[in-house]
Amino acid sequence: MEQKFIPKSLVASQESGKVTWQSPSNIALVKYWGKKNPQLPENTSISFTLSNCHTTTTLTYRKRKEIGPTFDFEVFLEGKVQEDFKPKIQTFFERVERYLPFIRDYSFMIETENSFPHSSGIASSASGMSAIALCLMSIEKEMNNDLSEEYFYQKASFLSRLGSGSACRSVKGNLVVWGAHQNIENSSDFYGVPYLGKVAPFFENYQDTILLIDKGEKQVSSTVGHNLMHGHPFAAQRFEQAQENIDRIKGIFERSDIDQFIALVESEALTLHAMMMTSQPYFILMKSNTLEVINRVWEYRRSTGSKLCFTLDAGANVHLLYPEHEKETVRTFISSKLASYCKDKSFIHDCVGPGAKQL
Ligand code: DP6
Repeated sequence: MEQKFIPKSLVASQESGKVTWQSPSNIALVKYWGKKNPQLPENTSISFTLSNCHTTTTLTYRKRKEIGPTFDFEVFLEGKVQEDFKPKIQTFFERVERYLPFIRDYSFMIETENSFPHSSGIASSASGMSAIALCLMSIEKEMNNDLSEEYFYQKASFLSRLGSGSACRSVKGNLVVWGAHQNIENSSDFYGVPYLGKVAPFFENYQDTILLIDKGEKQVSSTVGHNLMHGHPFAAQRFEQAQENIDRIKGIFERSDIDQFIALVESEALTLHAMMMTSQPYFILMKSNTLEVINRVWEYRRSTGSKLCFTLDAGANVHLLYPEHEKETVRTFISSKLASYCKDKSFIHDCVGPGAKQL
């Protein structure tokens, strides 16, 4: 499979150049948690691609006078040199070199900016890694203009995955599936694919307000968490359940079964955290305000009949999902009743979007 992403002949013909991509974050409905080497998922996941939370990356490249034994790159975040991003990008370059043989021929300057505060606890690896992968694909395209659009985006997602698993779901919109599933055509462990099944209009333009409960660094990284699924007592059942949930969500999208959507999405979020709490060593990423918010959401739903629901990623922040027609009422509820549970009363309104774009 990977063979098709190794270019046959590619001449590093460009002397220098500059490309910029803006790539969004995404929020999983059925979660990816557990992976095999190299960056292959243990189960299928599906996510909404977001819109307002994104990373903009400019890659400036110049031919090296002499090709050295190491990669040559510098990383800037919001204009400042960022030494602590380097190891992650070094690993990424090592993993993708086979597929982008020209990267040793160039010196790179990677300038990156997030639309959300760096310390917000919002995962920047999905948007950040997909933005770099897309920039590198644009360079490949400059050397080989024959690349089809389909190949371009598939390989961009393939490379993104090698940077961070969930990043492969950020290249395209609005719903993206990653991980081979027998009932999803063209699904692959190697890259994300846009979900082409029937989706009722109700799920178009879905809203996601991210409540920033805790802005600090996570105590346990996703990579460590994924690894704790090896030898986890419930791992096999969990991976099977995720495959079943993909079948269920397919039906939910077709039938526009919003109550089942809520039940599935909230259960996936709590199962993800239950896996963390039952691994060895065990850990908890939710904070007390995460639980406060969950209870307020349940109360609100009970008393108003609203279709507001929550999901979580690997952290304390809460993603609130709701249909567009509830935008006004839910947003009033958030600012009046939930903002006080957030650090500095901060939250970000986002919605489903079409994927990355070149600037
Ligand atoms: C909980 O993609 O951050 O957000 O592949 O190690 O970079 P790595 O992990 P990462 O894991 C994200 C997991 C999650 C669920 C999800 O997005 O599906």
